[in-house]
Amino acid sequence: MREAFARDELPASTTLEQAYAVKVKYLGKKGLVTELSRQLGAMPPEQRREHGQRVNALKAELEALYDAHCRGLAEAAEQAALAQFEDLTAVAVPEVGSLHPITRTRRVLERVFAELGFDVADGPHVELARFNFDDLNIGADHPARDMADTFFVTPPPGSSLRAEDLVLRTHTSPVQVRTMLARKPPIRIVALGTVFRRDDDATHSPMFHQIEGLCVDTGTSFADLRATLYRFVSALFERELQVRFRPSFFPFVEPGAEFDMQCPFCGGRGCSVCKGSGWIELGGAGMVHPAVFEACGIDAERYTGWAFGFGIDRMAMLMHQIPDLRLMFEGDVRFLEQYPC
Ligand code: DAH
Repeated sequence: MREAFARDELPASTTLEQAYAVKVKYLGKKGLVTELSRQLGAMPPEQRREHGQRVNALKAELEALYDAHCRGLAEAAEQAALAQFEDLTAVAVPEVGSLHPITRTRRVLERVFAELGFDVADGPHVELARFNFDDLNIGADHPARDMADTFFVTPPPGSSLRAEDLVLRTHTSPVQVRTMLARKPPIRIVALGTVFRRDDDATHSPMFHQIEGLCVDTGTSFADLRATLYRFVSALFERELQVRFRPSFFPFVEPGAEFDMQCPFCGGRGCSVCKGSGWIELGGAGMVHPAVFEACGIDAERYTGWAFGFGIDRMAMLMHQIPDLRLMFEGDVRFLEQYPC
């Protein structure tokens, strides 16, 4: 009887109703097992005890088998019901993107300069040649205006602009002009953004990023420029770093200079990053040229100004120890994933 129950009938029941029917057949009031215990009365007293124990054990065993079978059926039914629904918790964790190292560097630079009192200014990528060149004292015969260096943009049909009037900005310096035309001194701005230059050298990118700084005020001097850059690099790398200037020429400043910062990795002793020199070249700077003031309607008798500019991409490489500039422009997810938010 046990075999028939456990091996055949119970496993064959695939619903709780069927299983219950099997239970009733064996354990119900008129069930087969109940029938067995009824036989007790007709037995001789010496057999009753043993028979009674066997029937009780059988009853307990069948009941346990029945309970286990029902639990199994209930679980299977629950799984089947759940399988009809999409598991929303499985997609509850969205894939998180990451900030490009250049974006991260831009944000850090903006924050550090904001702490030094600079506003953030902006300008368009497609720029008037006038702002990109002329008003910055870069004359028509300057080599930077050569087709070989500059992307010229064809003006829209019907525009009064000539073919040579519109360019992709070759530096962030035109934002200086835009700011001075739009605002009265005192001015303290930084402008960060993409710039474009033709370059057939494989290690250069035709698109890169610069930051420009401009201060115009009464009585501001080269000493303030120097102090600002010194404070900036020290804040950026969270250690005291010197800056040094080397005389240089840029048409929109006079005097003009290139500036270096003490190597943040060796503190100036010399290492592989600074190639043993202790200094890292950053960019250009100088006192705003009177011709630029004049083009922007600023009284050069009353105001002085200084400006600086440098590449953000190299700064990002330094800050994130990125060995090759090209890595930053290839969009390879394996590279980008290394910079989680
Ligand atoms: N615009 C220059 C360049 O792209 C960098 C520069 C030099 C910016 C001197 C300045 C400056 O503001 O004073 O190479």
